[in-house]
Amino acid sequence: MQNNIEAILQENKIIPVVTIQNESEIDTIYQKLSSKGIHCIEITLRTPYAFEAIAEFKKRYGFEFKVGVGTVIKREQVEKCKALKVDFMVSPGLTADLARELHESKIPFLPGGVTPSEIITGQELDVQFFKFFPANLFGGLQTLEAYETVFKGVKFCPTGGINESNYKDFLRLENVVSVGGTWVLR
Ligand code: 3PG
Repeated sequence: MQNNIEAILQENKIIPVVTIQNESEIDTIYQKLSSKGIHCIEITLRTPYAFEAIAEFKKRYGFEFKVGVGTVIKREQVEKCKALKVDFMVSPGLTADLARELHESKIPFLPGGVTPSEIITGQELDVQFFKFFPANLFGGLQTLEAYETVFKGVKFCPTGGINESNYKDFLRLENVVSVGGTWVLR
């Protein structure tokens, strides 16, 4: 299921969401994350440099880091991720077409789902692990708690508004497997 995203999420309880503008940032990001004991990174496709950043981060630190790609919203981006042999892909949402492409890639992936209908649709597309984004705007802890009783077996990685003072509250929930966000590098 989802090409075993579960293993990545279980091993990496905090997933830093990072946007890289240029090559000069890479070593500093690596140093900051590894000094916090973090060995996983989600590099977003939000800058023109993103794909190069992913290739460069993998080349330098792929031996000790899981290097994932965030903000995957188009099928052609999945093709590029395959070519770069990334460790995982994250999307803020899901469509049937994107789900097919993601499954077929054989790369672990985490798509977004926040409303009951999105979660039911995701399950129909063989998705059990969802990014819950933006967590702070979709009811955060309270919504996730409510989903525990309704969506048995569905697991979430909340992002959006997660920070140093609330991330442990999210991780305590039974249906939260890991958390993500930009706060880690702030
Ligand atoms: C994401 O893509 O998960 C978000 O940009 C993270 O949101 P944050 O900046 O509130 O952590």
